[in-house]
Amino acid sequence: MSLTNSLATNVEPVIELEGIVTRFGRTVIHDGLDMVVAPGEMVSLVGGSGSGKTTLLRHLIGLTRPQAGTVKLFGEVLLSGSSRVQRARRRRFGVLFQQGALFSALNVAENIAFPLEELGIAREDELRDLVAQKMAMVELEPHHAMLMPAELSGGMVKRVALARALALEPELLLLDEPTAGLDPDRSASFVELIRSLHARLSLTVVLVTHDIDTLAALSTHIAVLADRSIVSYAPLDETMAVRHPFIERFFGGEQGRRALARSRRE
Ligand SMILES: Nc1ncnc2c1ncn2[C@@H]1O[C@H](COP(=O)(O)OP(=O)(O)O)[C@@H](O)[C@H]1O
Ligand SMILES: [Mg+2]
Repeated sequence: MSLTNSLATNVEPVIELEGIVTRFGRTVIHDGLDMVVAPGEMVSLVGGSGSGKTTLLRHLIGLTRPQAGTVKLFGEVLLSGSSRVQRARRRRFGVLFQQGALFSALNVAENIAFPLEELGIAREDELRDLVAQKMAMVELEPHHAMLMPAELSGGMVKRVALARALALEPELLLLDEPTAGLDPDRSASFVELIRSLHARLSLTVVLVTHDIDTLAALSTHIAVLADRSIVSYAPLDETMAVRHPFIERFFGGEQGRRALARSRRE
């Protein structure tokens, strides 16, 4: 993986991370990390617990800033430009974070409408249409609109959060462990939903996951965060051939072999 590779194809990368250094006190989390994601890719970001995956996503959306290095989204340095330019950039990505809790005092429709209202986007009737359209997109029924978060199952909470992330019709979707806490059936159907949205909306997606079945089903590329940087960025079969202790441990088991066999058949 290199900057020149994806630039050579003359497509502006959606994400460019260059020389990222992150420290918390004396602990170095990222040390010269590079990663380039081209449009339309579906990237699974894997790495040990505490390796800095969530922190990397937070850098990507400007919630936190690395001590060194450059973060570019859509070819522009993040946090650069006037507040109007930054607001426009903010609309181009959606996020579903692990603690992506819904606003508990707002019902489903109000939660989904929130980013639209915040940007002063839609009139009342437009808003209703957009919310209905987003609910359908994540396979929620119209009568779910009035439910409160406390009344929803875990799987539905994820769908509502996903609808909210998609409210502004982003080009880039960032998902932090979207299937964590879901039972295997719900997890599989959520993965299927992400896959179909990725295809239909020509999204670029980066998702953090520990689940080999999830990443085998979805990914165009696996980004492996280990040793404080991205040690491999490649499709699944190439990733599994990389000799690295973390990769061997992560993919070496029975689940890894089955997932690879399945992805080869597809
Ligand atoms: N704001 C913070 N202050 C201090 N340490 C932090 C902060 N955020 C994250 N960390 C530490 O940085 C490391 C990476 O965290 P995180 O990105 O959440 O890891 P991951 O998502 O890969 O499990 C962890 O050791 C975590 O405790
Ligand atoms: Mg995390």
